[in-house]
Amino acid sequence: MDRTAAGVQRRRMGRTGFEVFPLCLGGNVFGREGRTDEAAAWQILDRFVEAGGNCIDTADIYADGASEEIIGRWMAARQNRADLVIATKVGFQGGLSPENIRRSLEGSLHRLGVDTIDLYYAHTDDKSVPLVDVIRTFDALVREGKVTVLGASNYAVERLDQALMLARSEGLHEFQVIQPHYNLVHRAEYEGELADYAVREDIAVFPYYGLASGFLTGKYRKGATVDSSRAQTAWKYLDARGERVLAALDGIAAERHATPAQVALSWLAAMPGVTAPIASARTPEQLLDLLPMADLVLSTEEIALLNAASS
Ligand SMILES: NC(=O)c1ccc[n+]([C@@H]2O[C@H](COP(=O)([O-])OP(=O)(O)OC[C@H]3O[C@@H](n4cnc5c(N)ncnc54)[C@H](OP(=O)(O)O)[C@@H]3O)[C@@H](O)[C@H]2O)c1
Repeated sequence: MDRTAAGVQRRRMGRTGFEVFPLCLGGNVFGREGRTDEAAAWQILDRFVEAGGNCIDTADIYADGASEEIIGRWMAARQNRADLVIATKVGFQGGLSPENIRRSLEGSLHRLGVDTIDLYYAHTDDKSVPLVDVIRTFDALVREGKVTVLGASNYAVERLDQALMLARSEGLHEFQVIQPHYNLVHRAEYEGELADYAVREDIAVFPYYGLASGFLTGKYRKGATVDSSRAQTAWKYLDARGERVLAALDGIAAERHATPAQVALSWLAAMPGVTAPIASARTPEQLLDLLPMADLVLSTEEIALLNAASS
């Protein structure tokens, strides 16, 4: 991990040339009814960059585009676009046909108020469109200067490999970043072949659901009540393994004067291939609770303890 002249941590983002803070801010709460209104979103974004944060993750579909609009208005007001790595996505709405990719990209550029998107993801694999058409369209966007780096989210390793091989055989820009579902209570999807592949190919990895929808903050316990639109998903993790994970997080958090959420995110940041976990905060207070993860480096023993508790 490197630090900027101001002492802020930066991690190498694979082969892309970008460097990012160890936590990427998730934008799916911004502008969503009952979650984070624009004023709160601006506060969260301000606190994030004040702490050295620079990578922000959004998508065309988050709050029907309102997430991108809020980030766009905030960047315009703060005049800080050049300091940020802005990631957005296409594919869950309308798929990955060349026409839909182009239509969605223009919408994202407009809502964000930018000329170029730093990191553009295929949000999900769309098997109804030949992979070569997806790769050629994404490549054209890079050549046209509308996108800088390409990413793939929710791709199986075989499809990712096919996409890279196709791009290489045709001399096209390839996916250099992946965004898988990965956290302490959801490990199998990334660990193993996909992680090995990412490490071998020097692909940057941004795991999403870094907090397992809030479960890894430790607020979901037997007898507790949690008022959250994510509660239904998060409660599902409170089984025997979930209890073991929380106990391990509690123990390490107490020893390190940290919180379970910080320990859970630091564990992710230490996993092979991982560039920076993505997590969202619904309020500025929640974000302030997450940020110290950037300075928390877990020992080999602590990582082994968490690995054992979560397997
Ligand atoms: N590529 C994909 O397919 C995909 C899918 C999902 C998400 N994502 C990305 O990943 C990001 C993160 O996902 P996510 O927000 O769904 O899940 P998450 O990061 O695992 O959970 C975040 C939620 O946990 C709660 N929380 C956060 N900090 C807390 C704290 N300090 N104390 C107590 N509770 C806290 C908040 O919800 P409550 O306050 O409501 O409990 C917050 O919205 C998204 O914003 C998005 O950018 C990508």
